[in-house]
Amino acid sequence: MAGEIPTLSRAELEELQLERLRDTLRRAHDDVPHHRRAFADAGVTPADLRSLADLARFPFTAKADLRANYPFGMFAVPREQVARIHASSGTTGKPTVVGYTQADVDTWAEVMARSIRAAGGRPGDLVHVSYGYGLFTGGLGAHYGAERLGCTVVPVSGGMTERQVQLIVDFRPRVIMVTPSYFLAILDEMDAQGVDPRSTSLEVGIFGAEPWTDEMRRAVQERSGIRAVDIYGLSEVMGPGVSQEAGETQDGLHVWEDHFLPEIIDPLTHEVLPDGEEGELVFTSLTKQAMPVVRYRTRDLTRLLPGTAYPAFRRMQKVTGRTDDMMIVRGVNVFPTQIEEQILTVEGLAPHYLCVLTRPGNLDELTVRVEAATSPYDDGLGSALAARVKHRVGVTVRVEVVEPHALERSLGKAKRISDER
Ligand code: DLL
Repeated sequence: MAGEIPTLSRAELEELQLERLRDTLRRAHDDVPHHRRAFADAGVTPADLRSLADLARFPFTAKADLRANYPFGMFAVPREQVARIHASSGTTGKPTVVGYTQADVDTWAEVMARSIRAAGGRPGDLVHVSYGYGLFTGGLGAHYGAERLGCTVVPVSGGMTERQVQLIVDFRPRVIMVTPSYFLAILDEMDAQGVDPRSTSLEVGIFGAEPWTDEMRRAVQERSGIRAVDIYGLSEVMGPGVSQEAGETQDGLHVWEDHFLPEIIDPLTHEVLPDGEEGELVFTSLTKQAMPVVRYRTRDLTRLLPGTAYPAFRRMQKVTGRTDDMMIVRGVNVFPTQIEEQILTVEGLAPHYLCVLTRPGNLDELTVRVEAATSPYDDGLGSALAARVKHRVGVTVRVEVVEPHALERSLGKAKRISDER
């Protein structure tokens, strides 16, 4: 059955992982010059892997390695055998390019079908995909997974928000796949068109590609009546469908560990941390053909927890943020998600916000620009938020409350930080 979630035991899974890991390391070594050099520099060969724990002896792969081998240098197969290319645009310089063989495209469809099923989707559902189609992995990843599961897919992509609402009303999808920030924009558009978000046919929202908080989940569920579940992934490892939260438990994301092996490391010492401790998430692909990745440093911060809904597969906690998005304000580390949590506790504010970093003297300042939910709005909203952030997060911020719809909406991943230093 397509997208069936394997019910093997943890011991069986680990045996499978070891076998697949051996094969991956051997192919990475034999077929990708970068990995061969990196293994030699670290003084290891694929034969040094005798247990899963031995993976810790192998070198990491970073985004910079992919850039240095732009565009196709990380491929383990001749370009002619690559069926698909995706790329993620960096903020600076060249994009990061990834490739898939036909077998990889198939694996991806399968793990995405699993993800949609775990979220609460079923064969026969109508699925509205608002993730962007193109070099970004969101749209096509969702699309192939939904087709594989046996759903009717509506490939809307991002943008043209008025039409998104019209299609939801007319086609009556049960499932929507979209970034949480763009879903908010769609809800706002429903309000503008006089469509009650709770009256639509939507029951399940599969939200990812950017960090979002449990407070955002509660707010979105209350406003729309849907069940909002988290999906995670990254282009370098596959795209969406690396891990998925179960709709019935909503307690973090099960990593599809038969295809992607997770580790948590201390981002500074690079030491592997035990399950339960927070650190940087690292992935090794176990079945990828075109572009195997070995210990890829995601820069995402989370922790690994035991499986629940699917016991063999460990869960990762909701990603709190990326190491790159950590702001340091007067010595205190702050992530945009921590600000989001507080915004959602202040009645009268809308969760559309931007963290603006400036350095007026020689100290960094953080201004939170946030929309009021209604106009006119109460003068006290800004100081209410500043007080909560001071009390709960421990930093002093300036708050600038702006009119509803004053902030630019993203059609995909929201931009949460504007660095004006
Ligand atoms: O964002 C793949 C994706 C598409 C995932 C659609 C889920 C849904 P990239 O553009 O390569 O790929 O960006 C990957 O996005 O390293 C995280 O920092 C962030 N990210 C993705 N999903 C989540 C999530 C896609 N559920 C980067 N929560 C990752 C928090 C997420 N951050």
